[in-house]
Amino acid sequence: MAKFLDSISKETRKFPPKESFKKKAHIKSFAEYKKLYNESIKNPDTFWAKQAEQLDWFKKWDKVSSWNKSKLECKWFEGGKINISYNCLDRHLKERGDKPAIIWESNDGKSKVYTYKKLHKEVCKFANVLKKRGIKKGDRICFYMPMVPELAIGILACVRLGAIHSVVFGGFSPQSLQDRIDDSKAKILVTSNVNLHGKKIIPMKEAIDAVLLKCKSLKYVLVNKRKNVATSMKKGRDLWLQDELKAKDIENTCEPAKLNSEDPAFILYTSGTTGKPKGVVHTTAGYLMYTYLTFKYVFDYREEDVYWCTADIGWVTGHSYIVYGPLANGATSVMFEGIPTYPNPDRFWEIVEKYKVSIFYTAPTAIRAIARFGDEWVKKHDLSSLRLLGSVGEPINPDAWLWYHKVIGRNKCPIVDTWWQTETGGILVTPLPGAVDLKPGSACFPFFGVKTNIYKENGKPAKANEGGFIVVEKPWPGMLRTVYKNPDRFRKTYFSQFKGGIYFAGDGAKKDKEGYIWILGRIDDVVNVSGHRLGTSEIESALVSYKDVSEAAVVPYPHKIKGDALYAFVTLKKGLKGSDELVQILRKHVAKEIGPIAKPDKIQFAEGVPKTRSGKIMRRILKAIAEGKEDVGNTTTLANPEVVETLKKERV
Ligand code: WTA
Repeated sequence: MAKFLDSISKETRKFPPKESFKKKAHIKSFAEYKKLYNESIKNPDTFWAKQAEQLDWFKKWDKVSSWNKSKLECKWFEGGKINISYNCLDRHLKERGDKPAIIWESNDGKSKVYTYKKLHKEVCKFANVLKKRGIKKGDRICFYMPMVPELAIGILACVRLGAIHSVVFGGFSPQSLQDRIDDSKAKILVTSNVNLHGKKIIPMKEAIDAVLLKCKSLKYVLVNKRKNVATSMKKGRDLWLQDELKAKDIENTCEPAKLNSEDPAFILYTSGTTGKPKGVVHTTAGYLMYTYLTFKYVFDYREEDVYWCTADIGWVTGHSYIVYGPLANGATSVMFEGIPTYPNPDRFWEIVEKYKVSIFYTAPTAIRAIARFGDEWVKKHDLSSLRLLGSVGEPINPDAWLWYHKVIGRNKCPIVDTWWQTETGGILVTPLPGAVDLKPGSACFPFFGVKTNIYKENGKPAKANEGGFIVVEKPWPGMLRTVYKNPDRFRKTYFSQFKGGIYFAGDGAKKDKEGYIWILGRIDDVVNVSGHRLGTSEIESALVSYKDVSEAAVVPYPHKIKGDALYAFVTLKKGLKGSDELVQILRKHVAKEIGPIAKPDKIQFAEGVPKTRSGKIMRRILKAIAEGKEDVGNTTTLANPEVVETLKKERV
């Protein structure tokens, strides 16, 4: 821990917002931010009650918030009745019926515009299809889809009915999909026959046909016809989504369910420190409130903005900041099916120019990948519509920040570096762009209502510039409520490190003398590969599930583009020998078990890995070896110190 915290950046430059930006911003100065922030912490219920007036309720709440620390039960807007899809669609129809809600850019450069009116109609139809197939409030629906409009429409249809969606990122393997369908006992899966990805047409339905036979809870599979290609359909179970939507008995309207504030809205599985992903549960009113408000203030949203978040809806960023936050605000949200490098490395800038995007939100890994192709690709395009940039998913290194600021933002656009997690529902730490002088690499300050702190291991607050763990001392509306069907894991993961209902995020951080927060990365065995969150233990169990492998340890090492890359130490069963061929087999095996993003970049075969006397693998030492260090630190507590020299010698 100490070593890791020493690596913090010494960045001291500051970038204040331009006067012209400040003047028009919702929050125009640091003093104004501070005043509102202090109010939100001192009298949270007064603050949130006022904000909640901006949502449309069927019935207002009786109690703004409650927090039972011993049961770890937090409730927001109890007694209220509300519907997320009503707030994202119906309430805009009068004023913004013809305004684009979603502009979809397809892989091959075609656009499809969904005005609020059209989106409302499509969502109602989709909801009616679900109803017709027997879906009721509380039922789980799984989505395994490419970035097509039907995905956004489908999840909005679920929340319209009070059905619980669980989106599984389309890059995950069939096995991961099966695990998630089984865990949530989903009744319907919505998928696509194929996924268009750059030059490739990737079969999606065919790849999962075998595992679907094993998913006992599934009654129907709705298949989106992305391209007219031969697709095997199981009679009685598989239905073409387009046919279902076209059916004569599917009406264009559907009453939104009057849901309780704390009714679950969705489950989203995320990686943790053990092999099995956790089903993070978010509920209705609090999540909506939080994504609505963070979108409005963090992106300093204005009616005329065209907003684009490049994330995939398979991750929380896509849920909160492609769909729910923007639509709750009546914004125009761009959704992109393709990849940044197809047909050329200027695809992002082509899209920004095409739709006159004014707010652009992406991940550091994408910035680093694109910067590598050179500035000429950017200069071919008119980016003058851009007024604000955002970053999410991992710490942004100052070099990438400065490139983003200069080349994409033309030294004019503030960058909001937003720190948050699947569990937090929305952004927790961020600069407000009109109020804060930016420091490259710092996520700056907590959002309204979020009482962050940095604790040392002993639970005492860290001093300025001292590294520690970032925590949140009180619940906020967007906080996860539990881990699906596993309250014990909820308690252990987030509330056992510190006593008294303190939320433990699992990230290292420090606060500088001016109170700026610097996120230092994960402190547990979670890695961040190209902004995708993966548990090293998940990858280890995938490796060990291969017949020849007896033990595996996976650690991250720094990578220019990906952030973290994966280094696996693999011990084979007695008598077996490693080979280049086996390296390829194991990489493929992991891709099959989890997904291609989890493939180890390097695999080293090892007779043994360093362990403590109690048998725990010493990852600190493996990390140092993977990073190419000569000095791997103290090895005196090892049961088998002799393996270290061999591992160093045989490093790949
Ligand atoms: C990391 C993504 C530094 C962090 C929204 C966190 C960041 C994990 C930032 C959550 C940031 C996200 N600066 N680190 N701006 N944003 N992270 O659940 O380690 O996919 O715990 O949510 O990403 O990843 P998740």
